Amino acid sequence: MDERPIGLMDSGLGGLSVMRVLHKQLPDESLIFVGDQGHFPYGTKSQEELQQLVLKIGRFLVDQGIKMMIIACNTATGAALPLLQRELPVPVIGVIEPGATAAVNHHLKTVGVIGTASTIEKGAYPRTLHQFDANMTVYSHAAQPMVSIVEHGLTGTPTAQQTVDTELAYFDQHPVDGLILGCTHFPFLAAEIQRKMGDGVLLIDPAYETIKQAQELLTKHGLLTDKPSGMIRLYTTGERADLVAGAEKWLAGQFTSCDHVDL
Ligand code: SIN
Repeated sequence: MDERPIGLMDSGLGGLSVMRVLHKQLPDESLIFVGDQGHFPYGTKSQEELQQLVLKIGRFLVDQGIKMMIIACNTATGAALPLLQRELPVPVIGVIEPGATAAVNHHLKTVGVIGTASTIEKGAYPRTLHQFDANMTVYSHAAQPMVSIVEHGLTGTPTAQQTVDTELAYFDQHPVDGLILGCTHFPFLAAEIQRKMGDGVLLIDPAYETIKQAQELLTKHGLLTDKPSGMIRLYTTGERADLVAGAEKWLAGQFTSCDHVDL
């Protein structure tokens, strides 16, 4: 039994879509989140830059006494998961392998993947999906402008729908049974994405399988807390007010503190 917090990170608000699932599934756990808004966006950065940024955040979280880290960002997972697993003294999991597992579990024949330019270029989703199911047809497509829509608080507006319609027009020519939301910002655009793709397309949010795997890992290693806390500490490398506004909206205001940190 272990009352240390679980650490999460993202380039911005997207990680809150993973955090809300984690808090719902394991409400007794303490959580610490870093949103790297000071270096947003991640999706257009080089592998080297991303590795430096994510490692710095991982070390900060370790200094805060975490027992496990979740890289709640597809771009950061694609660039830095093995590095962090090597360098940090705590278990680290990402969101890509769980997202692929979730798609395979649904027995889909044709799957779309949307993500940042970096995530799509690296091709980790099609590689992982084909390891599980060599016959699956996978269409990958970068939709970077959708990330900024979430970060700038524009979900639910006509601008959001127009951006989604434009970015996902690629799938008009590439029909799919399911669509992996391969960027943790995208679940916050689920309504707009579903409207564009149609009700027949299953949207797959990797957060659920990620948290299932996190829970299994914590259980296996005896790391779940037996002292209910539910404390949620938020940090941002950008403007504190922006993360507060995001957390009011996406965590229904359920957080204990929110501070700026220079990393
Ligand atoms: C971004 O900063 O471009 C989004 C990163 C991600 O969630 O993959």
